[in-house]
Formats: sequence, structure tokens, C-alpha cells
Amino acid sequence: MINLGILVSGSGTNLQAIIDCIEAKQLAAKIKIVISNNANVYAIERAKKHYIPTFIIQDSHFPAREDCDKHLVEILKSHSVDLVILAGFMRLLTPAFIKAFPLKILNIHPALLPAFPGLHVQEKAVEYGVKFSGCTVHMVDEGVDTGPIVIQAVVPVHEDDTEEALAKRILKEEHRIYPQAIKFFAEGRIEVKGRKVIIKGCRKIEGALENPKVEIFE
Ligand code: GRF
Repeated sequence: MINLGILVSGSGTNLQAIIDCIEAKQLAAKIKIVISNNANVYAIERAKKHYIPTFIIQDSHFPAREDCDKHLVEILKSHSVDLVILAGFMRLLTPAFIKAFPLKILNIHPALLPAFPGLHVQEKAVEYGVKFSGCTVHMVDEGVDTGPIVIQAVVPVHEDDTEEALAKRILKEEHRIYPQAIKFFAEGRIEVKGRKVIIKGCRKIEGALENPKVEIFE
């Protein structure tokens, strides 16, 4: 059983997906603490509904981000957290935080990295005209959305898509791949070799996807 510390800043639908998998006994993990940098987010309500301890950390109460992160590390360590889960946590972490949990911080990003790192990526995917987008669970390193990739899910981008429609399609897949990535970790199946994440005993997928549909070979 691994102990999770989950960092949030928003509505917490990914947090909910993880809670649901744990409660359905699909994931052997315990959420020791949910931490938010904003007291008024729905993610905190979700945690409370499930009797999960919560903590609010306000950057403005610390002279520097390093001090804030040092406190964050102390809280997580005092709750014996094995794996830190960033679930819509809208703040960059300092190198000292990342060094405190080497290869033990996961993030979910709503695009197929390394395409579209950063913010507002669903809008950027629609504007760019890509035919596929998706989501990525990756380990957190000191760059922005640059760490080794654990799992990705692909969704089509339609010609008439809005940012909202694409975000909704991607979010549904986030809720599938994030608990799965945590499960790989909990089962000790993840090995990192440089940039590559090797997952022991995982099933390979076959075939290809195209968008729009190829018609000439049917
Ligand atoms: C998700 O799209 C996630 O990929 C991004 O922030 C959003 C968080 O959503 N990092 P939620 O708070 O889990 O609903």
C-alpha cells in the first residue's frame, strides 16, 4: 500500500477519479493528505467529503517560494507520503522540492507531450489544427512538463471543436490514465532509464489511428 499526497488548485476531478478507484479497490493506495494553494476550491470539498485530511498553503505567507516548498516537503514527509500527485496544481515547484521526492512526483498534462507544454493547451491544439491531442502522465523534473512520460491517451480533435469540447474529451481520458499510472507505481512496475519509463508486464497495443478516417483501403 503506498501513501499519496495530492496537490490541487481547482475543481479536483482528477482527485475524485483517484478517490473513486481507491474506494472501488482498483487501486491499493491511501491518500494521506490533499494540499491546495487556494482555500476556495472544490477539490478541498471533495477531499472533506471523503474524510481525507486537507491543508491550505498560501504562497503569500512565505518570504520566498523556496520557503513555501520547504514547508510543503515537511508536511508531505510528516504524512509519510511515498508519491506526490499533482492534480491540477497551478504552481511550479522549486528544485529543492523536486530533489526531496526524486522520481516520486507525477503530473498530468492535458496534451500529448512534448507537444503543447505550458498553459491553455487545449485552445492551442484547436488553433494549431492538430488532428489528435490527448493527455500525458509524466514524472516531474525541473523543467516545465519535460519529465519522463509514464502513459498517454489520445483523442481526436474535430474540425468544429471548441477549446471546451476538446478539454472535456481529454479530461475523460485523464480520469482513466492517472489512476492507472499510480497503480503502475504502487505495484512497483515502473523503472526509469534516462528519459524512458519502462513498465513491467504491460500490454502492448497494436495498430494505428487516423483522423479523418482513411477511406481508400476499406
Ligand atoms: C486538468 O486538465 C489537468 O490536466 C490540468 O489541470 C486540470 C485539472 O483538473 N493539469 P481537475 O482539477 O482535476 O478537475
